[in-house]
Amino acid sequence: MTWLLTGGAGYIGAHVLRAFGAAGLPVVVLDDLSTGDPQTVPEAVPLVRGSVTDPDAVRAVLADHEITAVLHLAAKKAVGESVAMPLTYWWENAEGTRCLLQACVEAGVETFLYSSSAAVYGMPDVDEVTEDSPTRPMSPYGETKLVGEWMLRDAARAHGLRWIALRYFNVAGAGAPELADRSVSNLIPLALRALTEGRPPQVFGSDYPTRDGTCIRDYIHVLDLAEAHVAAARALEGGATFGVYNVGRGEGSSVLEVLDAVREQTGRDFTPDLVGRRAGDPARLVASAGRIAAELGWSARLSLADMVASAWAAWQRH
Ligand code: WQD
Repeated sequence: MTWLLTGGAGYIGAHVLRAFGAAGLPVVVLDDLSTGDPQTVPEAVPLVRGSVTDPDAVRAVLADHEITAVLHLAAKKAVGESVAMPLTYWWENAEGTRCLLQACVEAGVETFLYSSSAAVYGMPDVDEVTEDSPTRPMSPYGETKLVGEWMLRDAARAHGLRWIALRYFNVAGAGAPELADRSVSNLIPLALRALTEGRPPQVFGSDYPTRDGTCIRDYIHVLDLAEAHVAAARALEGGATFGVYNVGRGEGSSVLEVLDAVREQTGRDFTPDLVGRRAGDPARLVASAGRIAAELGWSARLSLADMVASAWAAWQRH
């Protein structure tokens, strides 16, 4: 099987490429390089520059490289930006997935691994969300990710695709110092940037109904996340027909606990700046990670300390 990895030049893509390489899974990258860095794509991996919204580019790469399976990572992923620019998100994420699926059906590609998000759940009223919890996304970003799952489900029924969707929780860390998350839009990179700029990290809301008043999330190391893709790819290659899986550790950390890890790993002391709530934040979003362990044999190995330490090493180099 040859895999097409869309968005393979991005932060998560770079890690998945290395994991696929180590697992011996042949892969080709399609990336429009709007945010990706071609230097993170290993030399042995063919890199085709093009957008998933461009039917000709997609058809060409599927045919030229005899692609038999697709891992669709290419997407825009900033929640706040998606509220400000919803139509861009509907185009890039929803139309991008539709266009790619259409080309896959035409080309006879039957295996599809989809990068989804915990943002599909919105504000759950349970301590640990399972894959069967209600999906009530609260942003255009989350909506477009959920619609992508629906398109896949429908195309699978009609055209016989086999598919898996992985719902990522809060991805953090770096597998190597040169593989930093450059987007600086999430808590850990924002905290590291604040510290290097001589400011205390901000805490968005300290009056939530949680153990210390700050929001709780399920942080997952990008290296573990990459391994989850290998497990899903192997399952599909082995004949799995479909599945939707949470990718998290099943363990919640509050913002203050993350900042404690930042203090420990950077060796820099600070008093966090407690500011107001950020609109749209659920108090708690933690995965039930049982299904992926039971069905794909994957579970996370790395800790919050590993995430922060590796993010810090990458941040300093970046
Ligand atoms: C984490 C917590 C903030 C910055 C988003 C998407 C989700 C997934 C991951 C891709 C929240 C708080 C943050 C800061 C803070 N993305 N915070 N100070 O919003 O949980 O998840 O990214 O699929 O789908 O929704 O991640 O890192 O922005 O925030 O206190 O400077 O940290 O309020 O509670 P989020 P985040």
